[in-house]
Amino acid sequence: MAELWRTSKWVRLHDWDWIAGPLIPGQEEWSSKRATLVPSKFYYHVLRVSDVTQLRLESFDGPVRVLPHDGVYEHILRLYTTPRPFGAILHDFRSNDYPSDEWATLTNRMRLLRDTGMLVRDGDEEPPDCHAVFKAALFLFGIWQLEEEFAPALEAVAELQPRAVVEIGTGWGGSLFSLAQVADPTAHLVSVDIPGGIGGGGYTRAYAPRFRQFCFPDQQLTCVLDDSTRPEVVAHVRESLADRPVDVLFLDGAHSYAGVSADFDNYAPMVRPGGCVLFHDIAHPEGEEPSELMQVTRFWDEVKAGHDYEEFVRDDPDGYRIGVGLLRV
Ligand SMILES: C[S@@+](CC[C@H](N)C(=O)[O-])C[C@H]1O[C@@H](n2cnc3c(N)ncnc32)[C@H](O)[C@@H]1O
Repeated sequence: MAELWRTSKWVRLHDWDWIAGPLIPGQEEWSSKRATLVPSKFYYHVLRVSDVTQLRLESFDGPVRVLPHDGVYEHILRLYTTPRPFGAILHDFRSNDYPSDEWATLTNRMRLLRDTGMLVRDGDEEPPDCHAVFKAALFLFGIWQLEEEFAPALEAVAELQPRAVVEIGTGWGGSLFSLAQVADPTAHLVSVDIPGGIGGGGYTRAYAPRFRQFCFPDQQLTCVLDDSTRPEVVAHVRESLADRPVDVLFLDGAHSYAGVSADFDNYAPMVRPGGCVLFHDIAHPEGEEPSELMQVTRFWDEVKAGHDYEEFVRDDPDGYRIGVGLLRV
């Protein structure tokens, strides 16, 4: 019996035109830099982003495995969502009187898909790699996290196989992207952010549909662009989840003491027993005095008492750390 091949579960289409898209005030520099690095439309393999630092500005021929988006790749990747023998569609082309130069192109494209890991043997395990997910997030979207802190936190999240995830404070989308990759392929993700919000500036309505592309096809994404502390917003999040208990709540919105405690009081009751609440910025870079707007450390020290918790804090000689806290409910 012929070996069967299928489209890798980690293939995503990137369709994000940084140049034509709206730029959020304060983010222009980062956005334009990425616009020079990446084409606006391509397929990529989430786990093949191996070393962001090696990327060359002048070419895209780095270690990030991408393929330009066009109808032929799309056709093949769609066909192979159903496992079939590697050469099955070549045979189809030949027997349907397609010109032979098209066979050659198709053969090359099939090989490229196989070599980039976009087509895999049916039955191949494709476990998540949280460090690769982090690097993809950093490169493609931007993320306000450190790899040494966020990747192990993601591993803990992945173990829960979350079916409902709420993120307060999405920023450029890197953490939402990461959570979507490690969540259950049918998970419901809710992102709450406020355009122009303190500490990152959030995202506009025009960006929201783009975030859907990085989800698995059966995941659902709800974007709520409003102040997370408003009672109407809390009610809206609860309703949109239709009583599905939350497995993972990520608090990375307001960082003042009043803000983070309000988010905790409003959203933690939606988390099921056995689920978790993640906090960002539970630590401070050495020698930095936190302002009134950065008081998560104070709240974290109070809330973790008497709970089962883990802390992911970078231990680096340069003293730079921000820290992720995980509180088990
Ligand atoms: C540090 S950024 C989030 C970074 C993102 N989680 C990541 O890891 O890349 C903080 C975000 O919280 C949002 N924010 C601040 N206060 C908020 C509030 N009251 N309601 C909703 N979002 C808020 C800001 O707009 C900003 O985008």
